[in-house]
Amino acid sequence: MTSLSTADPQRELTVLGIETSCDETAAAVVTSKGRILANLVLSQLDEHRPYGGVVPEIAARSHLDHIDRLVEEAMQQAGLRFDELDGIAATAGPGLIGGVFVGVMTAKAIALAWDLPFLAVNHLEGHALSARLSDDLAFPYLLLLVSGGHCQLLAVEGVGHYRRLGGTIDDAVGEAFDKTAKLLGLGYPGGPAVEQAATSGDPTAFALPRPMLGRPGLDFSFSGLKTAVRQAADKAGILGGGDAALCADLAASFQAAVGDILAERCAKALDLFAADYGRAGPLVVAGGVAANRSLRGRLENVAELAGSRLAAPPPALCTDNAAMIAWAGVERLGLGLIDGLDFAARPRWPLESLSGAAQAATAGR
Ligand code: KG4
Ligand code: ZN
Repeated sequence: MTSLSTADPQRELTVLGIETSCDETAAAVVTSKGRILANLVLSQLDEHRPYGGVVPEIAARSHLDHIDRLVEEAMQQAGLRFDELDGIAATAGPGLIGGVFVGVMTAKAIALAWDLPFLAVNHLEGHALSARLSDDLAFPYLLLLVSGGHCQLLAVEGVGHYRRLGGTIDDAVGEAFDKTAKLLGLGYPGGPAVEQAATSGDPTAFALPRPMLGRPGLDFSFSGLKTAVRQAADKAGILGGGDAALCADLAASFQAAVGDILAERCAKALDLFAADYGRAGPLVVAGGVAANRSLRGRLENVAELAGSRLAAPPPALCTDNAAMIAWAGVERLGLGLIDGLDFAARPRWPLESLSGAAQAATAGR
């Protein structure tokens, strides 16, 4: 990574972002004033549905089939030529590596052809900074990052500066939603299906555990809850699906248990954050699970009780998209955090590991 100073800090920067780390092929154009000029997401849901989950090889092939056309469409919608861009950002990890390669290679090729800066964006940083695109938030803030592969509480101190306060010791929240949907035969993708089913269910119908509730620290655990859902479904005769009302009750009970766990951990984290940073939040929720309206409602209450507020990007910016990648690219470009074309895509790339790199690149600035 090199550090360049941008000539005119007032100039509006425009970045094309590419996202291909899971089962959404996405391209977007975003400016440093937070204007989203294009934001296209092509879901591969239908291709993976028969398998009940994402098949990495199918995902990579599908990204390859669609990315060029999608980038072209995004540029058309933005009304821009490549030579009018200031940079090209792509998710460079973590994620399904075949798909990540496709996005990174596409972005590098455009960067090389048009002599533009390439910005290798950490997918989690995309989620982490999305609230600054939607809500123009200042640093620092407390972040609950809840997606298909992650469940973490972080203090976001700046671009590239993340302090992990806690995280799941087993499954991610999104994974628990997806498994619950599968156990109840609600289909794929699981999160929205469970949320939909829960709307007509009774959240007190099934007594489910709340693992880690009241425990010291800020870690999470969801595997025990998943097992309890399986046992409850089995006992009620709805394992794999069945009586719709009972399924709705169990979905609602599961969602309520998740809500209790997230609410308690966030309340505690807000206290800790206030002690460490001398300010009450704000609390930001990001990642696919943040699209869940019931959970957003719970977290809103928690933030209010702590004298803080909840900032939650609109659902379309919570689930995987390229606008958040373009925005993270804008933020990094503004700081001169540009990557070389030799940057290697990474299947694993913890958010905390960015801090050292950002510090080294911006040292002396
Ligand atoms: O951030 P994301 O789109 O992809 C990853 O980076 O993982 O998150 C996907 C996860 C999936 O597990 C999906 O079921 C969950 O987010 N999700 C939801 C909702 N929408 C998506 N979970 C609960 N309620 C939702 N409405
Ligand atoms: Zn994601």
